[in-house]
Amino acid sequence: MKGGCMLLNSRMHQKLTIGAALVSLLCCCSGSHICDGVEDETPVHHLSTKTSYFNAEKDESYWENFKKEVWGCAAQQMWLLNRHGTRYPTQNDIGSLMNTLPSMSQQIEANHHQGRGCLRQEDLEQISNWFPPYSSRDKEQLQEVGYDELFSIGEYWRNMFPHLFNVTYDPAKFKVDYTVKNRTGQSAYHFFRGMFGEDAVGNIEFPQPYSPNFILRFYKACPRWLREVYKNNETTYKERRLFVQTEEFQSMAHAVSARLGFMHPLKPREIVAIYDECRYETAWWPARRSAWCSAFSPSDFEVMEYHQDLKYYYEDSYGHPLNSKTACRTLADLYTNMRMTVNNGVAKPQGIFYFAHDKTIFKVLAGLGLFRPPQHLKHNNFAEMRNRYWRTSFVSPFSANVAFVLYRCGLEFKVGTFFQGQPTPLKEICQGVTCRWEEISPWLNENYKTCDLSKLCMMHDEL
Ligand SMILES: *[C@@H]1O[C@H](CO)[C@@H](O)[C@H](O)[C@H]1NC(C)=O
Ligand SMILES: *[C@@H]1O[C@H](CO)[C@@H](O)[C@H](O)[C@H]1NC(C)=O
Ligand SMILES: *[C@@H]1O[C@H](CO)[C@@H](O)[C@H](O)[C@H]1NC(C)=O
Repeated sequence: MKGGCMLLNSRMHQKLTIGAALVSLLCCCSGSHICDGVEDETPVHHLSTKTSYFNAEKDESYWENFKKEVWGCAAQQMWLLNRHGTRYPTQNDIGSLMNTLPSMSQQIEANHHQGRGCLRQEDLEQISNWFPPYSSRDKEQLQEVGYDELFSIGEYWRNMFPHLFNVTYDPAKFKVDYTVKNRTGQSAYHFFRGMFGEDAVGNIEFPQPYSPNFILRFYKACPRWLREVYKNNETTYKERRLFVQTEEFQSMAHAVSARLGFMHPLKPREIVAIYDECRYETAWWPARRSAWCSAFSPSDFEVMEYHQDLKYYYEDSYGHPLNSKTACRTLADLYTNMRMTVNNGVAKPQGIFYFAHDKTIFKVLAGLGLFRPPQHLKHNNFAEMRNRYWRTSFVSPFSANVAFVLYRCGLEFKVGTFFQGQPTPLKEICQGVTCRWEEISPWLNENYKTCDLSKLCMMHDEL
């Protein structure tokens, strides 16, 4: 099809996508800009909620000030909320990946045989010979990389606070809880293996998970959230739907399709399947490069990340005021545990370890005003928000964790907040990198001490 290639500039693009009869002959000419950039490395740290913890960006910039603030202080108690580690796809995801990718891999191969597309030989071979590296037996289970993530997080805290955690395991000193989803219990197990050692973990009695769990999976038990937010297709996913129609998204879709040799633009659903496979394989096999990633240029990855961000922002974070409110039992639990330690002078327990989901993490972070963007993410401010802090890749990769450590500093108490193990200031609540107990305690008391979830979560029309 030599000579049939079109280089689309943005203006032609708009016309093309607006025009109903879209007869675009997209393919990769040698020298076409569409082929540029594909040999670049995958941005392994920017794959939204499917970024592996080992690849995720961590902000280490507060250590110096943090150390000054806790100089001479002793850690008394830690409260940790950890997202499960890198996992296999859910049943739904496995379904859509299996429905889409095997036939697509054959088409991509055929496209290239007919001289269309611009994958490199080795990527083309990997895609042509691709076979799903999972079966429905694996659904939702923690993947091996997930074991290592949690192990290393457990080890990290033991090394950081040896007098709290480099001790013989005693069930009276530690509390653990997780959700009914298998992957959170598996995460707890590997965390404990890292913290207390292979030998000790075999003797630890892990609790039975239960449902509803108002501290770790409160949103599932909140009919109002389910109806007003999660299942409210009209408003919750509006910005994401509109983003799909923007020039940014459409040119990404055209470029991805052309690179794979398609003469018609692939559907968003198909592009998402390619993207998901790319992200899973990248998280699972750090030493390999997934050929599915070669469909995307670095800027295409940014567009796909924003497409994900627009979903989570409205579904779970600052995009809807109910999201952060549903986390009130979780933050009340943090407050109660620390207040008891401050009042009694002894930490019982000294470690509280919770394992849950991205939805839990997003809502708890929003409940504290962490990483709140200066303006809402919208379909039409992609460029403006390019350097935003609030991005799902940063806020909730696999194994994302937020920990609060209560320190005794002479007669005073302080609370250090750690995000992905790095000191992180609660800028909306406290002055320093850490919080003085006198700062954070009234704030938690006011916002989270009384938490009536059943009232909050009642449907409005039942009132
Ligand atoms: C933990 O305890 C063991 C045995 O008491 C000791 O050998 C090791 O150095 C300690 N690790 C840390 C990080 O303090
Ligand atoms: C949870 O995972 C374990 C293996 O890690 C497996 O034996 C068990 O059947 C799983 N349970 C469920 C409910 O999937
Ligand atoms: C969601 O709403 C949009 C716009 O109102 C509509 O086009 C779409 O079909 C709806 N999707 C579902 C799954 O209901």
